[in-house]
Amino acid sequence: MKGLRGKTAIVTGSGRQQGIGEAIAKYLAKKGCNVVISDIGEPSGKNFTKTHIGSSKEMKAIVKEIKASKGNAIAIPCDVRKSKQIEDMISKTIKKFGSLDIMVNNAGVGYIMEPFEEFKESSWDAVLDVNLKGAFLCSQAAARQMIKQGKGGSIINIASQAAKSGFPFAAAYTASKHGMVGLTRSNAVELGSHKIRVNAVCPNHITTGLGHWQNKFFSEKLGLDYDSYLQGIVDKNPLGRTGRVDDIARAVAFLASDESSYITGEAMNVSGGEEYH
Ligand SMILES: NC(=O)c1ccc[n+]([C@@H]2O[C@H](COP(=O)([O-])OP(=O)(O)OC[C@H]3O[C@@H](n4cnc5c(N)ncnc54)[C@H](O)[C@@H]3O)[C@@H](O)[C@H]2O)c1
Repeated sequence: MKGLRGKTAIVTGSGRQQGIGEAIAKYLAKKGCNVVISDIGEPSGKNFTKTHIGSSKEMKAIVKEIKASKGNAIAIPCDVRKSKQIEDMISKTIKKFGSLDIMVNNAGVGYIMEPFEEFKESSWDAVLDVNLKGAFLCSQAAARQMIKQGKGGSIINIASQAAKSGFPFAAAYTASKHGMVGLTRSNAVELGSHKIRVNAVCPNHITTGLGHWQNKFFSEKLGLDYDSYLQGIVDKNPLGRTGRVDDIARAVAFLASDESSYITGEAMNVSGGEEYH
């Protein structure tokens, strides 16, 4: 893929093993990018427990693996809800690699699901703060840096099938992911004059750490066993399987590369044909 070698990418939420962010970071590193493995790193309050987050230890392990494959990577902890931490992350990135060319907003919370009548305000805030406000803050800080550099850039938002369709118990998640597509479109038209392209990727179901939690949650809600629930997803998928983290990594690399130089403002489904609008 043209135009990736030597570029620098930050991937938020990439510190959890088996996650989409980890796969994106490793794939970009394989294509010659310098990558920043960024994640919250430590538990924070009742909604960000160690069961759900990428730890500093995992972040370091991912960096080690990338380096062992002759890639360039560093780990920078960053809570995407905190603008000061985002600014620090970008400063450290510039200090280490000299520029920021690709920003992947992947950090996300998809494990806070409640019936709508009981949906807590604090749960709504927790989801929106990471998924939408986090993407806003990171995009803004990245755009400022890219404008200063004057050579364009690529911002990629990892949205979801829930950015196009509704899902039960997921009012906050669905609203946040639809919002991410709105942010993508607005930023694409506004930042185009700086040659900054802004796109979103919309995966369907992938059994990551988060995906595994969702499999358990929805299979219990539907009264199905875990495997029958997953088989149900496979059966309705035109390509006959659930998603894989590498499917998303390849789409992100394409959108980050010069191969997609005339594509901006898109919300690309990577869903085996399950979602098509
Ligand atoms: N797995 C799926 O089926 C699926 C489908 C569609 C979209 N997605 C989206 O893909 C992205 C990655 O999901 P995943 O399945 O790899 O899950 P994951 O849980 O492995 O990754 C999410 C990451 O976000 C991080 N994060 C959470 N709060 C943060 C914060 N405040 N600051 C920084 N990082 C924070 C977590 O620590 C974790 O590492 C998410 O945005 C998710 O909504 C996933």
